[in-house]
Formats: sequence, C-alpha cells, structure tokens
Amino acid sequence: MCGIVGYIGDKNCVPILIEGLKRLEYRGYDSAGVGIINSTECKVLKTKGKVSELEKLVFAEQIDSGLGIGHTRWATHGEPSTINAHPHLNKDKTLFLIHNGIIENYLSLKKGLEKEGYEFISETDTEVLAHLIDHYLKLKNSLFQAVRYALNEVEGTYGICVIYNGEKDKIVAARKGSPLVLGIGNNENFVASDVNALIAHTKQVVYLEDGEIAEIYKDHFTTKTIADETIIKEIFEVEVGVDEITKGGYPHFMLKEIMDQPDSIFNSMRGRLVYDEGISKLGGLQGFEERIINSKRILITACGTSWHAGLVGEYMLEQYAGIPVEVEYASEFRYRHPIITKDDTVIFISQSGETADTLAAMKEAKKKGALCLGICNVVGSSIARESDAGVYIHAGPEIGVASTKAFTAQISVLALITLLLARRRNLSLPEGQEIINEMRLLTKKVEMILKQNENIEKIAGQYMNCKNFLYLGRGYNFPVALEGALKLKEISYIHAEGYPAAEMKHGPIALIDDDMPVVFIATKDSVYDKVISNIQEVRARKGRILAIVNEGDEQIENMVDHVIKVPKTHNMLTPILTVIPLQLIAYHIAVKKGLNVDQPRNLAKSVTVE
Ligand code: G6P
Repeated sequence: MCGIVGYIGDKNCVPILIEGLKRLEYRGYDSAGVGIINSTECKVLKTKGKVSELEKLVFAEQIDSGLGIGHTRWATHGEPSTINAHPHLNKDKTLFLIHNGIIENYLSLKKGLEKEGYEFISETDTEVLAHLIDHYLKLKNSLFQAVRYALNEVEGTYGICVIYNGEKDKIVAARKGSPLVLGIGNNENFVASDVNALIAHTKQVVYLEDGEIAEIYKDHFTTKTIADETIIKEIFEVEVGVDEITKGGYPHFMLKEIMDQPDSIFNSMRGRLVYDEGISKLGGLQGFEERIINSKRILITACGTSWHAGLVGEYMLEQYAGIPVEVEYASEFRYRHPIITKDDTVIFISQSGETADTLAAMKEAKKKGALCLGICNVVGSSIARESDAGVYIHAGPEIGVASTKAFTAQISVLALITLLLARRRNLSLPEGQEIINEMRLLTKKVEMILKQNENIEKIAGQYMNCKNFLYLGRGYNFPVALEGALKLKEISYIHAEGYPAAEMKHGPIALIDDDMPVVFIATKDSVYDKVISNIQEVRARKGRILAIVNEGDEQIENMVDHVIKVPKTHNMLTPILTVIPLQLIAYHIAVKKGLNVDQPRNLAKSVTVE
C-alpha cells in the first residue's frame, strides 16, 4: 500500500527519494511521484506505473535539491493515472502533499472548498486535503498550523507529508492510522512509511503515533499532538541491515524468503525453549501469563495468511492448552459488535503489524477490556506497540507480497505459546519435551524439503496451464490447504480454493474432472485413512492429484499422479512442513507464467486502509 519517503538535508534528495521508493515497491503500488522544492523552483513529477519510469523522468530533469517528498500510490479513490498520482498540489503549485490512507469525509470537505472557489483536477480524496491545507495556510500563515487545522476536520486515516515553497526549511508529517517513521541523520533527516526506506541512511528512528504531527528540519525535529501540545519522542535504533532487504542472489524476494525458512524458523524459537522444564520462555508475555492461562476464551484475529496461521493456532491451543479458541477475520470482528469481556485474551497476528483492519479490531478489543496480545514480525510496528504484550516472530524482513516465511514463523510462535500455556495447565513434562525435540528438528526437516526444489519445479511445470485448483486437507492441514490456495491465487492469478477434505462431498466434488487438479495434504495423522477415502473419491472422477505426503508413504504414492514428500513431525508442527512445497509450487507456476512474483497485480504487502 502507498509508500512515503521524504528528505531534508544538504544532499540532493533526488537519488535518495528514488532509492527509498524502490525499497518501498514491495508494498504494492500502481503509480509514483516526487515533489521537490529548491531555491528556484517547485517541481512535481508523476507517472502511472513503475518507479523505474519515474526515475527516468526525474533524472532527465537534472534537479538538485535538499528538500523533497516521494510517493508510491495504491489506488483507492480514482483509477491509477498520472493525474491521480501523488503529490497533490495547491492551486499556486507551491504546496505538495503525499498521503497514505483514506479521507472518509472528502466529499463534504470538497463541497465546502468548491464554494470557496477551489477547483479539483483529480478524483482523489488526497487532493481535497491539499486544498484544505492551502485554505488554512492563507488564514494561519504557518504550514504547521495549516496542517493541524486541516487535519482537525478530517475523518479517516492518514500518514501524510507536506512541503511548501513558503517554508523551505521543513517537512510537516502527521499520522493517524497509517504508519510514519522519522529517520534521524547527521545534518539530514528523513521520513518514511516504513523503515526499509531509511535504513541505508540511518538506524536512528522515531515512530510517530496516531494524532501526532512532526516538523522535520534538517538538523532537528519537533513533535506535537494534533491538539497543539508538545511531546518528546524517544529515538530507537533499528536492527535491520540493508543485506536483509536485498535479494541476496535470488531472482525474487519470494524465493529468497522461502529458502530463508530454516533460519527464520530457528530465529523464531531462538532462546525460547527450556528443555529441562519442557516449556517455552516468552519475555514479551512476562507478567501476563496468569491472565492468559485463566482466560475463559482466546480469540485470534488477523487477515490473509496471518489468519490462516491463526486457524492452526486454534487447533493447537484447544488440543494442548485446553482453552476454547475462536478465530475471526479482523475485518469482520471490528464491525459485528462481538461479545468481548475482560476475561478474554485476544491475539492479533500480523506480519507487518500495520494492517488497518487488525489494528482497528485491536482498538475495539482494548476498549472492551480484553487482554490484547500481538504476534508481529515488524519490530516497532503499530500493533506491536499498541498491544498489552506480545511475541515477535523474528522472521526478518519479508518483502515478497505473498507471505511465506512469516507464516511458518507465526505458527512456530503459536506453538511456543501453546507449549507455555499447555505446560502450565495439563501437558506432562515428557510431552512438553517431545514438542521441544521436534521443534529443534524443524530446521533440518525444512532443509530436506527445500532440497527438493528442482523436482517441485518440474511438477509445477506439469500443472502451470490449469485454470482451477482445489486444495484439500483435514485437521492441522486444513489451514494449509487454504494457505496453499491463497499462495497460488495471489501470485499466479489461477483460481484456487481450499477446503476441508471431507467437505468436498458437499459441493466442490461437482467441479472435479480431468481439468481440475486436486492438491491433497495427506500426512500420516489421525485422519489419514479418511483422507485416503477422499483421494479415492477424486480418482473415481478422473481428477489429477498432487499429494503432499510423509516420507515412506507408498500407499498414496501409488494412488496419485505426483507426490512431494515431507518428513514426519509432531502433529501440531505439521503445517510448518507441509506448506513449504505449496509455496514452491505457487512460486514456480507464477515464474513459468512470466508473472511479477514479488509484486503481484492489485495486491499490497501491508493493507493500511480498510
Ligand atoms: C495483505 C498481504 C498478505 C497478508 C495480509 C495480512 O493482504 O498481501 O500477504 O497476509 O495482508 O498482513 P499482515 O501484515 O497483517 O500479516
């Protein structure tokens, strides 16, 4: 979703903005632009399409300036076009605004401004805000105050940056609901929608909170609330290195991230397993364990892949910790007036920690007094900061839009939480130790699956022209079926559905013929025999079958067209292994179809608007 980057300092901002926008490309976007102000001119350059197109435009102009802002837009109001791209301007073309979020009351604000003679050239909500700031600028004669007054009238969400020819010594930035982070340099300062755009320049960052406005000068910054009260912000040091946000020799971030999984899974567990006690140690939950253990119910809420991880969490927590669990889409949770009490623990799972629906669901649960726990990857993200407690998954930056290593690390952390709660309730020491042993073996087992990449690529080649897929699994592998189908949809644009295998008989079986491949996730667990019956039912209807099975399973191998074998593990950890071949199948099919794997059409890495 929209990317923001801003620079003020002695260097030429142009290459810094372009490089920053490239680092934000992974968020998903459809147009890009920069606004630059120097001593002689104010210039806005925008284009539909890629940052590389913008780069050509900008470098052709040979502009040199120490003040500029850049933006990648993910269209909400108005189609992707040069006119709708940001920055948006005031009439005099002296004030430039970039925005991430949605101004919900933009139509009523627009009507008021039209009455005053303001004219609009784009279809966007953002242009309304640019003119509203201009309106207050004329009244207040201060960019900061103009932004503050304008934002007081805005309903909706925003992360914005504004620059103005009349006050060339600053960038004004404000946030409500859409992330913004300041980067503190030496005689230069930065602002961006996420730290990836900054870390090549500085590791010192300041996270803006909702309702805060910053004035960023080249050698200092000040922060106030939207009510004009001064606030002192803490400076944090980020640990992410530039090498972590490059492809490291792989053709795509997605492949790098799939291949990273032995490390990311290991990192998610590192220092958290206490073998002697058969338990896990989670510093982020310290002081909250009793309340979680005594919860009457655990709710898990999330979106997309994180929601699938939540489903795995439900199975684990109910089976081993014996606490009732419900899993819900954050987008539904926030609007359906759920019954939440102080006795509930609500877990919010989000790779980015910025998903608007998940963040809003958390605010709702907090209001109702529930204990709110975050499971996030991005350190310092909004959900991580605003939850009562939580656990980082430590998977490292995930850049590919289709989530892979975050999913397996999320499941690993859910297993750690399950182990902690289960041991404090009924799980025996040997059972706890068995889980720890299996967790420790995961890294090796994941490596064994990744070694089959070439074979998996060949199998992918045999399915790449299919138009529809069905993914079926039961128990712990049902969420994996959903996740496998989602991966394929996201990056190969092939229609795919995930279903509980037994539900097939209640509808999807009607779709099965020799054109409809069925992917079974059929590991040796308590429902293995039942899944075999489901496989027979598909065979009887001439469906092509690809099955993910355990090593040594010859029974299924003899029944289906292709198998990919994964090592056996503890049943609750199975999804960590079975999902990996499905990630690779989706990846290879998309590559073979010549698609943009890392930035699939229409998708955003982090959905920061509703
Ligand atoms: C977007 C991404 C998905 C992701 C989902 C939730 O839709 O494209 O890959 O699973 O958001 O993101 P989160 O950061 O909250 O896990």
